[in-house]
Amino acid sequence: MNPLLATLQPYPFERLRQLFTDVIPNPEYRPISLGIGEPRHATPQFIKDALTSSLAGLAGYPPTAGEPRLREAFTGWLKRRYGLDVASEQVLPVNGSREALFAFTQTVIDPKAGPGGLKPVVICPNPFYQIYEGAALLAGAEPYFAPSDPARNFAVDWDSVPEDIWARTQMIFVCSPGNPTGSVMPLSEWKKLFDLSDRHGFVIASDECYSEIYFRDEPPLGGLEAAARLGRSGFHNLVAFTSLSKRSNVPGMRSGFVAGDAALIKPFLLYRTYHGSAMALPVQAASIAAWGDEAHVAENRALYREKFAAVTPILAKVLDVQLPDAGFYLWAGVPGKGAGIAGSDTLFASQLLAQYNVTVLPGSYLARQASGVNPGAGRIRMALVAGTAECVEAAGRIAGFAKKFSP
Ligand SMILES: Cc1ncc(COP(=O)(O)O)c(C=O)c1O
Repeated sequence: MNPLLATLQPYPFERLRQLFTDVIPNPEYRPISLGIGEPRHATPQFIKDALTSSLAGLAGYPPTAGEPRLREAFTGWLKRRYGLDVASEQVLPVNGSREALFAFTQTVIDPKAGPGGLKPVVICPNPFYQIYEGAALLAGAEPYFAPSDPARNFAVDWDSVPEDIWARTQMIFVCSPGNPTGSVMPLSEWKKLFDLSDRHGFVIASDECYSEIYFRDEPPLGGLEAAARLGRSGFHNLVAFTSLSKRSNVPGMRSGFVAGDAALIKPFLLYRTYHGSAMALPVQAASIAAWGDEAHVAENRALYREKFAAVTPILAKVLDVQLPDAGFYLWAGVPGKGAGIAGSDTLFASQLLAQYNVTVLPGSYLARQASGVNPGAGRIRMALVAGTAECVEAAGRIAGFAKKFSP
């Protein structure tokens, strides 16, 4: 067996299952889960129609690079959304951003090329989307965790990364808008990372799958957009990952794309050809339809805005929480330091389930202990993916629960 498999950590939902093994949820309440970050708004009918009217495509093997029309749908969207001129050889379809983040890491990392016989490093934000760590470990790299800073809207503290780590870094993950923090990385931070990448030669993998669900007036800045604004033509050492899952409510369709440096996209295409990860032709047809329409995206965003506007004030009265820049999570500090649950995210989650039958995810499960600190500890992640009424009801119960711990 591949010995690296043994280095993988249990997934947060497995840890949650174990945490709740002996918890008996209060049967007086019907269960509500804010635990899993899976979109639950309805899939638009025109996307389903585009899929089912293209079933004849099942009779053929799809090209790994995608049909020309699909690549045009990607470049067209990048032009409309970010004002970017991106060439056909700078984009590639992927079966959701998750597999792409994993596979891209396997393409980029050279496990033998760490200086001084040490493993190469992949830098991840902390807390982070768990695939980053697994992808780095299975590629033979060592993950390094850079903490997000609550005092700066959960911006990742890139300055805290030591020089000897940068020197070993082959790749970094950026997650903007962030899961779970909802924080969007500003242009100044992008400039910092581009300068570091130029100095040390590492690749930037920019995970942007929440880019279309935002709460400020201005849409989130994209990585490629940041590069263009800073006059970096060709997107050297940069690849952005995007997805229809959240934008168009099709997590089951497994459809996204990557865009960026052609010198990285080309070997990624080679890797994908051998890995066998072409996108089925009916899914390509449905994806073309989805990327070509913005009306459903605006409607979806409006639903999230309405929901967050209703829920956030209820929770903000009792928890340390505010409206995020973007995404569909609330990332809240738990109360009760020194009392009751003593600021513990796991005690908060298990007692909330026992008393009010609401599931939330302990923040410490989404982060790693690094330099003696787990930056997710004392926080919970709430995914507002259900309907507004259900989320408001959950918020009311959480507020009732949290009030017990307020001073
Ligand atoms: C930060 C982040 N990146 C990537 C993904 C993967 O999404 P998909 O594979 O559906 O595009 C998720 C899914 O929850 C996520 O939270």
